[in-house]
Amino acid sequence: MSGEKLWGGRFEGALDPAFEAFNASLRFDRRLLFAELRQSTAWARALARAGVLTQVEAERIATALEKLGRELAADATPLDRSEAEDIHSFVEAALVREVGELGRRLHTGRSRNDQVATDLKLYLREELAHLDRALHDLCAALVALAEATADLALPGYTHLQRAQPITAGHHALAYVEMLARDADRLGDAKARMETCPLGSGALAGCPWPIDREILARELGFARPTANSLDGVSDRDHVIEVLSAASLILIHLSRLAEDWIFLASQEAGLITLGDDVSTGSSLMPHKKNPDALELIRGKCGRVIGNLTGFLATSKALPLAYDKDLQEDKEALFDTLDTTRACLGVMTTVTGGVRYDRERCRAAAERGFLDATDLADLLVKAGLPFRDAHERVGAAVRAALEAGCELRDLAPELRASLLGELEVDPRQALTLATILERRSTIGGTAPAEVARQVAAWKERLEAWPKS
Ligand code: ARG
Repeated sequence: MSGEKLWGGRFEGALDPAFEAFNASLRFDRRLLFAELRQSTAWARALARAGVLTQVEAERIATALEKLGRELAADATPLDRSEAEDIHSFVEAALVREVGELGRRLHTGRSRNDQVATDLKLYLREELAHLDRALHDLCAALVALAEATADLALPGYTHLQRAQPITAGHHALAYVEMLARDADRLGDAKARMETCPLGSGALAGCPWPIDREILARELGFARPTANSLDGVSDRDHVIEVLSAASLILIHLSRLAEDWIFLASQEAGLITLGDDVSTGSSLMPHKKNPDALELIRGKCGRVIGNLTGFLATSKALPLAYDKDLQEDKEALFDTLDTTRACLGVMTTVTGGVRYDRERCRAAAERGFLDATDLADLLVKAGLPFRDAHERVGAAVRAALEAGCELRDLAPELRASLLGELEVDPRQALTLATILERRSTIGGTAPAEVARQVAAWKERLEAWPKS
C-alpha cells in the first residue's frame, strides 16, 4: 500500500504493480524483524540522549516495539498479510499505528541504509552462534565415531587407488580438523562484525549529536563503524560468511562422497542407517544414500550463493545501491542450507557402521604393505630409492603370480628381495603397519586414541560464542 511507503512525498504517480512486487523485500527480510525492533529501540534511546526525543517518548516507543515483538512472536499473520515494502516500513507503520505521530519521529537522522546494515549484523551474530553449535555437534559425533574405530583398519586411498592402511578413527578425525577450522573461520568473520553501522545515515553520517559509541555498545557491538560510506555499503561480512559456509559444505561433500563410496556394493565397507537412507519406487532391493547425496548436491548451491553475490558486489559504486538487497536471499539460503546439512550429517555419523572384517580383508589386499616392505629393505641397508625399485619389481612379479607381496614364493623373494632380514609375513602384519605410524598426526591406533582424547577436551572447551 502506497500509504505505508516511506518515501511517497516526492512522487505523483503510483508504482507499476509488477515493479512494486519486484522491489519489495518483506517476503525475505521479515527474518530481520527482531533485529529491526532491537535496533529501533536503541535508536529511540540514542535520539533521546541527543535531545531529539524526550526520554519519556523514547520509552513509549520502546514499549510499543516490545509489544509488537511479543504479538508477532505469538502470531505472524500481520506480517503474512502486510503489503509493506520491507521490514523497516512494516515496523514503522506498526509503530505509528500504536503510538501515533510520535512514531513518525523515530526516523530522524536514520536511513534504511544504516538500518539494514545494522540489522543484518545483529541477525548474523545469532545465526553464527547456531552454526557454531551445529559444527560442535557434528565434531562430537565424529569424535565418538573415531573413538569407536580408533584401531579399525581400513584401506586408505590416493587417486582412489588403494594406498596404505589407515584406521577408520583417523579418517573421522580428519573431518574434525576441517570442521574445527571452519568454526574458527566463522569466529574470525564474527570478530570483524563487531562494528555498528547505525548512525551512518544514508551515506554521509548523522547530523544529530548521536553518541555512536554508546549506541554501538547498547546493541552489543564493540564500536561504531569508522566511515559512514563504508558503514552503509560494506557487505564483506556477508561474503565472508558465504565463503566460510562454502568451505563447510565442501568439507561435508567430501565426507559424503567418502561414505557413499564406502557404502557402495563395490566397496561394501560401511552401512548407513535406515533413518537416512531411502528405497526405490521400482527396485525393491535398493537402499540409497540420499542424505549424503543431498549434502553433496547442496554444496553446489551454497557455492552458487557465494559466487552470485561476489558478482553482484563487483564494481558497485559507493555508497548504498539497491543491488545490495540481493545479499539477503543468498545469505539466508546459505545459512539455512548449511545448518540443515550439518544436522543431517550429524545424524548420518551416528548411524555409520563399519564392517570390521571386510575392512580388514580389504586392507590386506592390493599391496597396501608395499611401502613398508621397502622400509624393511632400508632397514637392511638399501637406499630408499633402490628399495622402491626392488619392491616395484616384486609387485610386478606378485601381480603375475596372483598373490600378495608377503606370499611371494621363497625363490622369487630371494632373487628380488634378497637383502630382507625378516620374514615379511611376520614383519608386515596390518597391526604392525598401522602401529609404525605413531608420529604426531599418524594413523596408529595409539596416536588416534591420543587425538581423540585431545579432541574431547577441546570439545568441552569449545567456544560457546
Ligand atoms: N530492503 C533494502 C535492502 O535490503 C533496505 C535498504 C533500502 N534502502 C534504500 N535506499 N532503498 O537493502
